[in-house]
Amino acid sequence: MPSVFIKTYGCQMNERDSDAVAAQLVAKGYSMANDPLKADVVLLNTCSVRDAAEQKAIGKMSHVASKLRSRNKNAVLGFMGCMAQSRGKELIDKLPDVDLVIGTQKFHRTVDHIGEVLSGRVNTVVDVEEEKGSEATIREHLLDGASGGKSVTSFVSIMQGCNQFCTFCIVPYTRGRERSRSIEDIVGECEDLVNHGVREVTLLGQIVTSYGRREIGVKDGKSAFVQLIEAVHEIDGIDRIRFTSPHPKGYGDDLVQAYGRLPKLCESAHIPVQSGSNTMLKRMHRGYTRERFLDIIFKLREVRPDIGITTDIIVGFPGETEEEFEATMSLCREVEFDNAFVFKYSTRRNTPAAELEKQLPKELIEERHATLFAEVNRIGASNYKKHIGSKMQVLVEGPSRRNKDRMQGRTRCNRIVVFDGGDRFRGQLVDLNIIRTGLFTLYGDPAILT
Ligand code: SAH
Ligand code: SF4
Ligand code: F3S
Repeated sequence: MPSVFIKTYGCQMNERDSDAVAAQLVAKGYSMANDPLKADVVLLNTCSVRDAAEQKAIGKMSHVASKLRSRNKNAVLGFMGCMAQSRGKELIDKLPDVDLVIGTQKFHRTVDHIGEVLSGRVNTVVDVEEEKGSEATIREHLLDGASGGKSVTSFVSIMQGCNQFCTFCIVPYTRGRERSRSIEDIVGECEDLVNHGVREVTLLGQIVTSYGRREIGVKDGKSAFVQLIEAVHEIDGIDRIRFTSPHPKGYGDDLVQAYGRLPKLCESAHIPVQSGSNTMLKRMHRGYTRERFLDIIFKLREVRPDIGITTDIIVGFPGETEEEFEATMSLCREVEFDNAFVFKYSTRRNTPAAELEKQLPKELIEERHATLFAEVNRIGASNYKKHIGSKMQVLVEGPSRRNKDRMQGRTRCNRIVVFDGGDRFRGQLVDLNIIRTGLFTLYGDPAILT
């Protein structure tokens, strides 16, 4: 059977989609290749969120096409995911070597489309239609953990799409409107995962706090998302639950209280803030204020004082003034995020922000990015140091990426800890004494003997 190479760009949603496609291919007898130049089929799962992400995938595809075609004239080359969705056939016009363009609602059709091209029945396929029920088609898992061995943690896709339409963001156009799977379906998938050794699940969606708003609705004062977390919490064998990405507007008291009530819900939250300025938040159409965001952080820390909080920030949105940028700097100092991903604003086609006047010069965006990035790292590093001397529980995921003789796990607040130990620790919850820190890594000793 032919071999397939898949490379993934973009967010965890895309990683999850690639994993499901790989599992569907393996189930049909395909093998997975590690080198695109030795594969029969090359799939790039693409991201459109910033221009750089698109350029990377296009560059990679032209490189692979030029090298691979001369060796294997019948190799199949395909784009999947967000850029495939937003650019469609235009990608084949640009890169005539490409055979497949598969949109975000058609991942589950990939196996069939590859078969059609390989058998010569068709030359090219562009499949970017909407498909009812497609949110429930990302279900299969490969479950190959880091460095071989079985996965202990897994992503579970709970919904697709986003209705928020932040003015800078292309996601609502690439992923479509919000559509949620049923609680039973998601619980069923989690139970299967537990039977395969998984102990931690991360519930995934572009705006998970809006999960089931239309399909399920509020019951007993609890949002559909909180109802889902409760149902997953009931599953024996799941030790830890996480989710990403939430939206600040979804942090009602029901979700804050869930952190107090549900011990498996890990005390970590990635809550994208984008800006610390109210005028900017309004122009971005974010739907909350700086004060509301700070109130959420305050309440979460009241319920779980050791909660790890990370965020996303955009610098250089059109018309960003010095005061607006300073407001973002001051928000970071006030919240003391464990980490923040700082992005340079990238104009996305057909988004409202692309039409705004006063697009900022590149140099100013670079300068603000560097300033904020340095501040965020300074705050993050000093937060890390605070852990030295404390005892933290990790779920051991496998060998350390840097040094295969050591093991690594994640704390409940989502920090990586590396320690001396063998594979018998994999999948175990282990208490570690934290002895030192590196850049965004902690080092510990098992606390079993203390
Ligand atoms: N659904 C997630 C975000 C998905 S995109 C959420 O709402 O939190 C991930 C991050 O990319 C965003 O949080 C934002 O910070 C950044 N981003 C999105 N569009 C961008 C753009 N046009 N330019 C720069 N960064 C952008
Ligand atoms: Fe994009 Fe905003 Fe939706 Fe996040 S909430 S995916 S930033 S539109
Ligand atoms: Fe990129 Fe699509 Fe994710 S645009 S960030 S891969 S939802």
